[in-house]
Amino acid sequence: MTCFTLNGKPVTSQLPASTRLSDVLRTEMGLPGTKIGCNAGDCGACSVLLDGAPICSCLTAIAQVDGAAVTSIEGLHADGTIAKLQDSFLAHGAAQCGICTPGMMVAASALLAENPAPNRHDVEDALGGVLCRCTGYSKIIDAVLAVGGDAKISPRPQAGQNVGSPIRHLDGQPKVDGSLIYGDDAVPQDALLVRVIRSPHHYSSFTIGDKAGFLASHPGILAVLDASDIPGRNCFGVIPPFADQPVFAETTALYRGDAVAAIVGDADVIRHFDEADFPITWTPYETMLSPASAMADGARKMHANRDGNILVRGYVETGDADQALAAAAHKVEIHTTTPFIEHAYIEPEAGYATREGNRIVIHGCTQAAQMDRESLAEIMGMELEAIRVVPSACGGGFGSKLDVSFQPYVALAAWVLGRPARICYSRGESMRASTKRHPSDIRLAVGCDETGRISGFVFDGIFNTGAYASWGPTVANRVPIHASGPYATKDYRANSVAVHTNAPPAGAFRGFGVPQSAVAQECAFDLLAEKLGMDRLAFRRLNALKNGVPTVTGQVFNSGVGIDDCFAALEDSWHAAVASAASFNQTATSDDSLWRRGVGIASCWYGCGNTSLPNPSTMRMGITADGKIVLHQGAMDIGQGANTVITQIAADALGVPVHDVHILGGDTDLTPDCGKTSASRQTFVSGKAAMLSGMALRDMVLRHGNVDANATIALDGAVLTLADAGGGTLRIALTDMPVNDYGYVFMAEETYDPPTSPLDEKGQGIPYAVFGYGAQIVELSVDAALGRVRLDKITTAHDVGRAINPLLVEGQIEGGVAQGIGMALMEDYQPGRTENLHDYLIPTIGDVPKFDHVIVEVADQEGPYGAKGLGEHVLIPTAPAILNAIRHATGAAIYDLPATPDKVCAAIAAAQAAQGRPS
Ligand code: FES
Ligand code: FES
Repeated sequence: MTCFTLNGKPVTSQLPASTRLSDVLRTEMGLPGTKIGCNAGDCGACSVLLDGAPICSCLTAIAQVDGAAVTSIEGLHADGTIAKLQDSFLAHGAAQCGICTPGMMVAASALLAENPAPNRHDVEDALGGVLCRCTGYSKIIDAVLAVGGDAKISPRPQAGQNVGSPIRHLDGQPKVDGSLIYGDDAVPQDALLVRVIRSPHHYSSFTIGDKAGFLASHPGILAVLDASDIPGRNCFGVIPPFADQPVFAETTALYRGDAVAAIVGDADVIRHFDEADFPITWTPYETMLSPASAMADGARKMHANRDGNILVRGYVETGDADQALAAAAHKVEIHTTTPFIEHAYIEPEAGYATREGNRIVIHGCTQAAQMDRESLAEIMGMELEAIRVVPSACGGGFGSKLDVSFQPYVALAAWVLGRPARICYSRGESMRASTKRHPSDIRLAVGCDETGRISGFVFDGIFNTGAYASWGPTVANRVPIHASGPYATKDYRANSVAVHTNAPPAGAFRGFGVPQSAVAQECAFDLLAEKLGMDRLAFRRLNALKNGVPTVTGQVFNSGVGIDDCFAALEDSWHAAVASAASFNQTATSDDSLWRRGVGIASCWYGCGNTSLPNPSTMRMGITADGKIVLHQGAMDIGQGANTVITQIAADALGVPVHDVHILGGDTDLTPDCGKTSASRQTFVSGKAAMLSGMALRDMVLRHGNVDANATIALDGAVLTLADAGGGTLRIALTDMPVNDYGYVFMAEETYDPPTSPLDEKGQGIPYAVFGYGAQIVELSVDAALGRVRLDKITTAHDVGRAINPLLVEGQIEGGVAQGIGMALMEDYQPGRTENLHDYLIPTIGDVPKFDHVIVEVADQEGPYGAKGLGEHVLIPTAPAILNAIRHATGAAIYDLPATPDKVCAAIAAAQAAQGRPS
């Protein structure tokens, strides 16, 4: 028994003395605001105050707080400084998915209690132990720094002014006060715990032994589930024709982390179960972790229908690339490699299921509620209507939570045992089992003529797609379309291949392979510019795609191509940065002569939505009899701000203030299908559906009132007032009107599906209705002795068509750039070796520099109010811009990512040796 003060009140814990304080808070005390990201002291999500000082509650045994005062996020009373801190976080957009926010708030509150006027360095120090994967930290720093000053005012726009307004997240308050419910935060008290038994081997056959005997000798374990228990199809996959992943492997596990069985029972028993006791016999095979080994002659075939372990190939060709290259005045060849990259969302996969009669209801984190539902219906052998998915808040996804993960296990357990069943992956399980960014091995040859115009482009990319298909086909198809970058490339050939190996499935991760191909293309462009003796930005502007110029798939946009506008917006910053670096390097004294400054630039383009496939979203909007405007918003908000941005669009389409619109979201019983949150499609596709719904609802209301098209709409309780330009006013008592089956007096539901066309055998056609564009400048310093890279500043220019919410645009950019920094400098997932957040490094608050943003708005004809997608674009230029800056600073050419200090040192030595200088 441990007695302590919790949030100002005396409490007693009955749990054993060694129990983690975080578990006591979340379970025994019923305070789930303290989050668990790793249970190992790496992420800081579990931060609480112990006698006023921040600690990791996951590393603190309850016995250690005996007699002490503990304050969790729930105890940070929203008055005085804390109220200002919460307000500042909201005003700055400092909470995206919000899963790190309680830890950040706790750490910041301790800092501000001690130092009410901290500087940036103080904030970085104080918050350095808390990881955020969404924001890029900059807005968090700004939010804390602003607490001591005047409050930042957030706009509350009127009708017609919602689009373009930098309003705070509409769903932000529960994130900053810790009350938002994530996948593991609100499970039924009587829920059984599910634990998945996974392969410890990269490649192995197995036999499960005596299940009945095992159950008889393990009281508290109520069921062992395996492939034989699947009532429907033991298979799932995000692209139905390629679906190949079993819920439970049947005889052979294809990767370390492959699920082979699950045990279900009392939480305590399941939690403490030693997996060595599970009756299973393994027969490991020779492992194939690289595409080379999997494609080698005689390699064991992992999937019966995939010769050579090849999942799929992608191809785009236009003109005659070989002839153009042969005729080129200058030519470069480059070979780049990138490793697996882990999503590292702070919230591991978590949720629960309940059986309700003949239905299964699944609660938990997801990026794709409707896709989950379809997969589960197949797995459970049920009608679609028998499956209901109720998404919790999602603590980050970045692509990986598009795939089914925990859902089949809890659904099956709840169905078989008739009791709620829950699961929460450990950090290790999450990292072992979940999808990753595809490792790439890319060879590119590109030439240009005497004037610098691109002449010939030949790209070959091998992508390690891991054990199962996941989004491998999407990566293989998307890369050849994008590998040219946003440049006019007449003579072009791009091949890609996705190869199965015994690694975790590689899937969707912000960019679907395009960040990898951009490393090769943008680094090669620097080499070409150097050969020409041409300014690197000027080279890019010369070749930038323009309106009316075909893309490599032959698609022609007559308006909306914004890449050169992005470059133009960066001209002044570029020349100033290059001059500043040159000046520093020339005047460096002997003391600091080991530091060299460099500047890099890179660009992006990215097609929004599915590649040449139907991609619809449907939105419903209604007005209730008591005067409530409701938007059924099923586009999963995973922190990127869909709830806010899509509501801004819908509000302007209807003609009401955004804060008058209530959002109903997620639950598949309540919202139409908005598709998945991926491919930067929600603002564009679901936003367009919201715009059409708002316009249709407006039209319906105006026609009912028989007023002109410019009339204003206002709601005052249950009275709807329509006022036309001529001064006429009509008041409609909504309570007098009949309601439809959904409970609305007026309702509209509209669908939008972007116009695309299939690609032919040469990859020619219309893969996307819209592309977004961008460019980034990186200024950095390299310690030439130790290989350390210090980022000084990143300047971005992204063409978003129309910034529906400029505050959220900046947040997306900074978060994506931070992930690009990780890709460039530190992230390297190795199966079996870096399955935690201390061996697998992601950027911390000290790794991210200051930002400067230019938001470019070249309107798109298709997008809602001209908007284009943004979420994935922003990561693409960062890594190549960093690599180009390192080379500019030191001559070190690093094309094998990440550019860790040892590689930087080796590359500097190689560059010096090439110049005949001693290293
Ligand atoms: S959960 Fe405690 S540090 Fe990550
Ligand atoms: S907002 Fe920080 S992890 Fe999502």
